[in-house]
Amino acid sequence: MATPKDTVWPREGHTGAKHDLLRRYLQAWLPILLRWNSRVTYAEGFSGPGVYEAGEPGSPIIALQTFCQYPDALAGRQAHIVLVEERQDRADRLQAELAAATCGMPTVPVGLRIHPVLAGDCADVLADALNDCDAPGNPMFVVLDSYGGPDIPFTLLQLVARNKSSEVLLTFQPQFLTRHGQRDTHRANGDAAFGGTHWQGVFDQPSDRKLDYLVDAYKESLRLAGFDYSLAFEMQDEGGHELWLLFATSNVKGVEKMKDAMWAVDPVHSVRYRDPRDPGQMLLEIETTPYAVPLERILLVRPADGAQTLDELRDWTNLKTVYKKGQVLAAVRSLISSGRVGKPASRLEGSTSLSLCSAPVVANDDLTLF
Ligand SMILES: C[S@@+](CC[C@H](N)C(=O)[O-])C[C@H]1O[C@@H](n2cnc3c(N)ncnc32)[C@H](O)[C@@H]1O
Repeated sequence: MATPKDTVWPREGHTGAKHDLLRRYLQAWLPILLRWNSRVTYAEGFSGPGVYEAGEPGSPIIALQTFCQYPDALAGRQAHIVLVEERQDRADRLQAELAAATCGMPTVPVGLRIHPVLAGDCADVLADALNDCDAPGNPMFVVLDSYGGPDIPFTLLQLVARNKSSEVLLTFQPQFLTRHGQRDTHRANGDAAFGGTHWQGVFDQPSDRKLDYLVDAYKESLRLAGFDYSLAFEMQDEGGHELWLLFATSNVKGVEKMKDAMWAVDPVHSVRYRDPRDPGQMLLEIETTPYAVPLERILLVRPADGAQTLDELRDWTNLKTVYKKGQVLAAVRSLISSGRVGKPASRLEGSTSLSLCSAPVVANDDLTLF
């Protein structure tokens, strides 16, 4: 989709899904964080106008609504909302939408502090805004939902990652770099976003590998910035529009909660997910228990040295794929019964060692027929 020019624009399918995911994740994140911390911050660097053409709320309003859902968790606590938007017309509209949303709330928790929307470039403004209100000393949830850039400074990621309870959710649309990154100025922008030159290997990749290569390179950047874990998945809506979402955290529970939110997104938004590790590149419908055949393929081709236990595979799956831990047992059973994994000598339990042989890369479901 072309970058919108008007102050407000129509909401795309995957934006609705992204909002549903955000709401669900914040509903899990907020009460947990507020139990252990006297203060949390929600921040956005690319906030938008706070509303879409048909009146649907934008992400900052969703965050505000979620904070207002938990007045008890906020009792005696503080929650700050810090928002940056480059365009003055959108920043003004967002300020008005925030005012209207708070007026419409039955209760606005006393501890909720909505900072005035800052009109400016995220790269110039957000880090200072967070430092000015002492946000980095406490957990932050930072949404960086740009049009692709590259326009998120690596130093901003480092600032967020410094607090081990902070997390970031960002949209990643690296097509610009695959097309134009070899030019000197864009190469420098790429280095600033990735925090190094490791992404430049993309120029040697075949065209069908370039995007996945950059996603992996950015996951590495998130690790270098200080996040222990990251999750990447592609969303595709009905119109075939693609959007990459990346989530980074230093908490395993955060990964699990994000997966729960992902797979609970309302199917009405008609998005499907793709795990970049699936050699079959299959798009998955949103279901409580995602279709497991791609997981079987992923387990067979995952980089590993020799045998691993079932529990190790569960942890690996949770941290490295879009799948949940709870699905690994069924996938391993299916691999064993189809002869693609050797039958273990003893009963299959967490500590059972499995020797997964590598499988040929097949681009569709036929693998299940082996
Ligand atoms: C994808 S929209 C954000 C939508 C919003 N997060 C939501 O879900 O409702 C991206 C926004 O970032 C703004 N923007 C673009 N470049 C920016 C920059 N360098 N700094 C801050 N905002 C920027 C655009 O004006 C646009 O409103």
